[in-house]
Amino acid sequence: MALNYSKKTINHFLNPKNIGEMKNPDGYSQIGNMLCGDQLNFFLKVRNGKIKDVKFLSFGCASNIATASLLTEKVKGMTIAEAKKYKWETVVAELGGLPSQKIHCSVMAVEGFRKAIADYEKKQKHSR
Ligand code: FES
Repeated sequence: MALNYSKKTINHFLNPKNIGEMKNPDGYSQIGNMLCGDQLNFFLKVRNGKIKDVKFLSFGCASNIATASLLTEKVKGMTIAEAKKYKWETVVAELGGLPSQKIHCSVMAVEGFRKAIADYEKKQKHSR
């Protein structure tokens, strides 16, 4: 059975944006799914309350890579408050849809990104 991926999803999978590690990130997260075994790491740089840079590493499926790639493109330049409101439903809509079996990949990407923001906020509290 072949899954129906949009052209945009395939493009982000084949040419992912913002992939890689970051030295001394302001926020970092690691998230995984015990059922499928996929994993994502996010790295954030924040300046003046805005996402200056964001990178990810994926040990996952095509949808995992495509959703993280699109998400990192969209949230760059957003304020922390705006970025926290970015939803998995928006990622899926921006990609032109995902097969229903792959929705959890977008949920994991958004949760992982929010976890990196939470790490940034925690570090901010401790540095005051
Ligand atoms: S199959 Fe689990 S993240 Fe894609």
